[in-house]
Amino acid sequence: MDKRLLLSQIEKNIHDCKKCILWEGTTNPVPGEGNPDSEVVFIGEGPGFNEDKQGRPFVGQAGKLLDKLLISIGISREEVFITNVIKHRPPENRDPLPSEILACKYWLDQQMEIIKPKVVVTLGRYSMARYMQNVKISEVHGNPIKIKSLVVIPMYHPAAALRRRSVLDSIEKDFQRNKEILKNPSSVFNIEGLKNEDEDPNQMSFF
Ligand code: URA
Repeated sequence: MDKRLLLSQIEKNIHDCKKCILWEGTTNPVPGEGNPDSEVVFIGEGPGFNEDKQGRPFVGQAGKLLDKLLISIGISREEVFITNVIKHRPPENRDPLPSEILACKYWLDQQMEIIKPKVVVTLGRYSMARYMQNVKISEVHGNPIKIKSLVVIPMYHPAAALRRRSVLDSIEKDFQRNKEILKNPSSVFNIEGLKNEDEDPNQMSFF
């Protein structure tokens, strides 16, 4: 079946979702948006004030920075798919609870199953934790890792980059460094030195 159709069905279901209490007091859910045929998916944390108002991911200040970072490597946001771990805005932008992340995983799993990206960029700790545990973002950011047939690139959250100059420098470098993979995901299978997650994750070395 058509990916767009399947994703729009999930969107409808997210609109009715009451798997956790986050829907209470929100204006709109934010399922995600972009090109369902993209080989690259960006996963953030959860909607903030502006995203909740518009029902679209990354449309506030952090989103403007994400747009700039994408443009810096010649990609427009329409070319990729952008979503979040959490689909409803947590009150006062608090961190999502483990139970909320678990409840919402149901939707993200389905989105990923439909889109089947080759590359996932995780933005911040919460989406990174979907793929790798017991690692520090300060140590692994910008380093692609292969998890079965998927390449995951952990990156800092753009909102963190807006707060600290050093993080902004890092995220800008990380985008440049991964430009080839992000522009041409099929090239990832030819990249030597990409570490495999089957190795002991506690001993995981990145290049
Ligand atoms: N921060 C996120 O993690 N996601 C958004 O959609 C907006 C800000």
